[in-house]
Amino acid sequence: MDILRNQTTEFSNRHIGSISQTQEMLSVIGEKDIASLISKTVPAGIRMERALNVPSAMTEHAYLQHIRTVGQQNQVWKTYIGQGYYNTITPSVILRNIFENPGWYTQYTPYQAEIAQGRLESLLNFQTMVSDLTGLPIANASLLDEATAAAEAMTMFFNTLNKQDHIDRPRFFVDKEVFPQTKDLLRTRALPIQIELVEGDYKTASLDETYFGAILQYPNDKGAVVDYRQFIQTAHEKGAFVVMATDLLALTLLTPPGELGADVAIGSAQRLGVPLGFGGPHAAFFATRDDFKRNIPGRIIGVSIDAKGKRALRMALQTREQHIKREKATSNICTAQALLANMAAMYAVFHGPDGLKNIASRITTLTRLVADALKERGYKLISAHYFDTITIQTDRVSTIRAKATAQRINLRYTDNDLVALSLDETTSLEDLYELINCFEDDKQPVSFSLDKTQTTQNWPAALNRNSTYLTQAVFNTCKSESQMMRYIKQLENKDLSLNTSMISLGSCTMKLNAASEMIPLSWPEWNSLHPFIPQEQAKGYHTIMEELSQYLCDVTAFDACSLQPNSGAQGEYAGLLTIRAYHAAQGNPHRDVMLIPISAHGTNPASAVMAGMKVVVVKALDNGYIDLDDLRHQADANSQHLAGIMISYPSTYGVYEETVKEITSIVHQHGGQVYMDGANMNAQVGLTAPGLIGADVCHLNLHKTFAIPHGGGGPGMGPICVKEHLKPFLPGHITQGTVDAVSAAPYGSAMILLISYAYIRMLGAAGLKGATEYAILNANYMRARLAGHYDILYTNQSGQCAHEFIVDLRPFKKSAEIEAEDVAKRLMDYGFHAPTMSFPVAGTIMIEPTESEDKAELDRFCDAMIAIREEIRAIEEGKADKKDNLLKNAPHTQATVIADQWPHAYSRTEAAFPLYYVTHNKFWPSVSRVNNTHGDRNLICTCEPMESYMQEKA
Ligand SMILES: Cc1ncc(COP(=O)(O)O)c(C=O)c1O
Repeated sequence: MDILRNQTTEFSNRHIGSISQTQEMLSVIGEKDIASLISKTVPAGIRMERALNVPSAMTEHAYLQHIRTVGQQNQVWKTYIGQGYYNTITPSVILRNIFENPGWYTQYTPYQAEIAQGRLESLLNFQTMVSDLTGLPIANASLLDEATAAAEAMTMFFNTLNKQDHIDRPRFFVDKEVFPQTKDLLRTRALPIQIELVEGDYKTASLDETYFGAILQYPNDKGAVVDYRQFIQTAHEKGAFVVMATDLLALTLLTPPGELGADVAIGSAQRLGVPLGFGGPHAAFFATRDDFKRNIPGRIIGVSIDAKGKRALRMALQTREQHIKREKATSNICTAQALLANMAAMYAVFHGPDGLKNIASRITTLTRLVADALKERGYKLISAHYFDTITIQTDRVSTIRAKATAQRINLRYTDNDLVALSLDETTSLEDLYELINCFEDDKQPVSFSLDKTQTTQNWPAALNRNSTYLTQAVFNTCKSESQMMRYIKQLENKDLSLNTSMISLGSCTMKLNAASEMIPLSWPEWNSLHPFIPQEQAKGYHTIMEELSQYLCDVTAFDACSLQPNSGAQGEYAGLLTIRAYHAAQGNPHRDVMLIPISAHGTNPASAVMAGMKVVVVKALDNGYIDLDDLRHQADANSQHLAGIMISYPSTYGVYEETVKEITSIVHQHGGQVYMDGANMNAQVGLTAPGLIGADVCHLNLHKTFAIPHGGGGPGMGPICVKEHLKPFLPGHITQGTVDAVSAAPYGSAMILLISYAYIRMLGAAGLKGATEYAILNANYMRARLAGHYDILYTNQSGQCAHEFIVDLRPFKKSAEIEAEDVAKRLMDYGFHAPTMSFPVAGTIMIEPTESEDKAELDRFCDAMIAIREEIRAIEEGKADKKDNLLKNAPHTQATVIADQWPHAYSRTEAAFPLYYVTHNKFWPSVSRVNNTHGDRNLICTCEPMESYMQEKA
């Protein structure tokens, strides 16, 4: 026996849940081994015949040592670069109880509101904080980054003032002092939809009726705090809207954008306790006036009521808008940055309004100290008014840089004669000696004095903040750590996460997010690097990013990779821009028609429209396959203008279409490119690959297949991989000397790339392939167990599904007046999160167990589904009432079950403990069924005043 043998399978045996029960499960499906199951599932013509070219698996212990060593290649210097990214202190109580807590980071997007009230409340706190600080009434629950948020504001204004087929106002004014990465992204987003960007100085700009909007930075790129009231008023007089990119901490002291007249305020909430992470993930914010509430991109949390009339929260309005409106959607945002929004909100809860103001006052006072010291030394500041950033004009840049470098200090060097520095929460009085010393002639030691009782306001009195903020109870209660810890726990208890039970969301791949994958994210060598530091300080990052890119290329059978897109939808957008640029370089800029199958995820058409393409829908056959006749017809009809097709594989119906190569070749024959949506990659890794089915480009949702947790609606990463011919057209970044970025930071949310890297290194080639095989085994096992009870839609010619399958609930509408939603809510009483509902087919659920679940958990879920089927049968047979039954009244809360009154024909035990296993691990939904329409009709998306809580209690 080889005593070292177990080391290569140690992690895969932990990651893959059902290895020890393989034979039992195969026998239920009627297969003799995994190989025969796979051969009947994945079409022979597209099988990957080689092993994946990734290093052999490491144990968890070995990996942690390895990543510690690689991390030492990163250098943590004292960094004052600013530019939208600042050092911050994550309060330990938030670090331990949220950032490092699977009860928070493994949550799914809160579509099932009754078992998500905790994060919904925290996200409502985030919205309230943003709304209060910006002085605007409506805020969303995060966007991907500051630059994306700016672009979303631009397109929202553009769509408001222009008709779909006629552009009256094409121009958007960009003040020259907007952050460079934001300007770059605005350029990327403007070009395909024919927005004309005009860059200039707001002081001299003269906007006319051809402008639909403008963007200003407050404080600006040079750190200057300027009064934009006049500009905003003039823009409004011309009918244009204004977005201000801003800083939440500065707004504790400065007049907020809403009071200056801005229509939208955007920015990053990173400096509220979220680590730098070499660029992300961080939550961006977006706040606006009431008039825009139906156009605001991303998710909004709103207050509604439940079936008992009690206050309950839910996602409001356009939350599922890409799914409903598809190509008419105003944005493609799906995954955002929920976990990081929760951290920022908790930072505000922890510090409260006075604490935040104190931090901001300290920062600006220390900045004043530095500014005065530099002025004393004869340096010229670009602006007399600033919050935390000063820019110095000097002919001594190289000397200053040499001194800073010698002291391991990063300053910002923008032009030949400009040096800028930004102070932050971590800057201490002691730090200032070395900082000022960078500008010193070494003749005398740095010395200064500070009157600690005096705070300063380094801006005109007209920009002082006079309005109050964060007066709501939640921001003024958690004074002690015990209170804070309990508040976080109280919210966590309301939410069902992967640490309670499986979350079998089809298309979302809620697999294990292993602790060893997550731990290094808490280490400073990985989480405290600024995205714009010199490359040589981030060698550790570059090492893992290069390796990860190679692995992803190998897995996809492609040649090049961009790690920049920070969500799946951003990956789609980046991939489509790549296709667009390729066609233009071939002399075919007119190729702008994108074929999209009817079953596609809503982000696909939304991204295509953002990329300036026209969407043509391709039909599906009854068995869910793409209708080849319709495809041929559409490809023919649009041949001259065909840009390509977007397909998901296996299809969103959960089947490996044997016809996929025919599909890709039809599109190629007409000169189109094939984009593959990688959401279903968990059914491909090691068995087939986008490159083998004939695709040219794909994105990978690392937050699905490659183990990044969903965080309750983000973060995510959506890198794209491409064939050689598309490589020259991948996104660039200003820090790399190129443009066309799709994210604010060059490697998107770089820090969480570590998770996917860990996943690959600990599974190795065999483990990665094994994960796919077991994802397919688990899905087929559940399919086989449920087949006698429910109709399963769309299996392949051998009757197998891929890694997910669709259960048809539509017949019950007629037979028992039961809808998919009733089944979803009843599953909560059994301790489970519902599978994906009504996507891609209305009235169905799509189940994706993933490889991480063991047979016992799969059985519990199947038992629950089978028991629910019997509950439906009781209604069908007239044994249970059609209106008052276990499903219609689901979920049953603790309060309802123990109430003195019990008016139902079924028992309390049947309601709350329907199967024996539930008694061991009961999860109580905290509210009854949430009323969807009430919340939209009476939109409230900030924390209510105290009175409303009092009414509720009464
Ligand atoms: C098939 C499909 N495509 C695209 C997306 C969008 O990805 P993201 O949410 O990361 O933007 C999803 C998300 O669930 C999906 O299921």
